[in-house]
Amino acid sequence: MARIVAGVTASHVPAIGAALDLGKTEEPYWRPLFKGFERSKEWMAKTKPDVVIVAYNDHASAFSVEIIPTFALGCAAEFPPADEGWGPRPVPVVKGHPVLAADIAQSVILDGFDLTIVNKMEVDHGLTVPLNLLFGQPKEWPCRFIPLAVNVVMYPPPTGQRCYMLGKAIRKAVESFDEDLKVVIMGTGGMSHQISGPRAGLINREFDTRFLDNLTKDPQALVRIPHLEYVREAGAEAIELVMWLIMRGALDDEVEEVYRFYHVPASNTAVGHIILENKQ
Ligand SMILES: [Fe+2]
Repeated sequence: MARIVAGVTASHVPAIGAALDLGKTEEPYWRPLFKGFERSKEWMAKTKPDVVIVAYNDHASAFSVEIIPTFALGCAAEFPPADEGWGPRPVPVVKGHPVLAADIAQSVILDGFDLTIVNKMEVDHGLTVPLNLLFGQPKEWPCRFIPLAVNVVMYPPPTGQRCYMLGKAIRKAVESFDEDLKVVIMGTGGMSHQISGPRAGLINREFDTRFLDNLTKDPQALVRIPHLEYVREAGAEAIELVMWLIMRGALDDEVEEVYRFYHVPASNTAVGHIILENKQ
């Protein structure tokens, strides 16, 4: 049987991708950030998942503003990096797991989550930056990925509660899959950030720390946070944090926090990261 062994979250700041692609990781501005993910890469190399499910958001790369699905599951065999204006990032093509993805789609849709099934999709920094942070810059990614694109770019995004319940449904689907697969689930985006307007650059370290604390200890406190509270407390783009609750919903109620890292600033945003393992 396939099983979800751990959950990981990481911000997906595009400037992190640019720093990697342009060889700037050793520059004083960036060094502390990349140093914070050294242990995470070791953990991932040791954990060796077969498949990683990634809840992330597309930034008008795969989906224009003409069509924005709330939850879109990548069921393709591969997902090429998107051209975000400077050519596609020099990262490997992301290989999918169409059989497991189709199984997840079936199980989750029959459980009442009306997913959009996507059979062709390019993936942008929302997915590829966290992959670099956790896997480094290999020639080929070492495992398969199932992208789950979540709308957090146009109002209204899904609620935290809905995301958390989707995580639970995904777990059920994974555990009903016959093949013996080790699965990790990721939530990307966040933490505090406001990209434009008079509050641009807003960072709320207290909110972010409480969010990380509760992600481990009290996710029920997080699923109740209304959209407006994310926006008011941690900036308009902090709404991306609802995607972290998909990850959390797919884990045990009680988890072990293996590692966390928090860093300000990365291009005017707060970078947050946590690794949680199921106990059994
Ligand atoms: Fe984003």
